[in-house]
Amino acid sequence: MAYDLDQLTRDLNETLKQGQDKQKIETVRQLLAKLLTNQAFVAKTCGPHAEPGLHLMYEDKELGFQVLAHINEKHRKSPPHDHGESWAVYGQAIGYTDMTEYRRIDDGKQPDVTKIEETRRYRLNPGEVGVYSHGAIHAIDYPDKSRFIRITGTNLDQIWRVAFDQETGRVKRMGPQQAS
Ligand SMILES: [Fe+2]
Repeated sequence: MAYDLDQLTRDLNETLKQGQDKQKIETVRQLLAKLLTNQAFVAKTCGPHAEPGLHLMYEDKELGFQVLAHINEKHRKSPPHDHGESWAVYGQAIGYTDMTEYRRIDDGKQPDVTKIEETRRYRLNPGEVGVYSHGAIHAIDYPDKSRFIRITGTNLDQIWRVAFDQETGRVKRMGPQQAS
């Protein structure tokens, strides 16, 4: 039987129960990649007839992690942002997402202003999964109809996250699901 959402969420619970260090998040990446090989799942969840929007597919009552389907209709470019104390794993289902990763290069003395520099730029194609863990800063840029499954360590709406304005260097608090 094909690997499905139920199996994924059970495996995620088993894995994340043991901790959420980098090694466990790498396991999350591999599990999501396995789910994305299930073509029936991808077609049903992210195909042309999927309801546009952000859908919470699963929330773990015990550990708080979430599995979300991002059914995007219109292209979008996010500012560079982090995921607060949490982490995010992005698995491309349909179309592609261009990812840019950054690191902070300021001295950290001014809380509202910072400098970041690009460290990596690449494209996530269908079936590919990117990991953004523990303070990682990234920006996403996708075309119309790009669709992906995202797993986060917790509900990101409930934690403090920041976005970075590269022109001014200002750090901005992010609202609910503002930059994914
Ligand atoms: Fe993100």
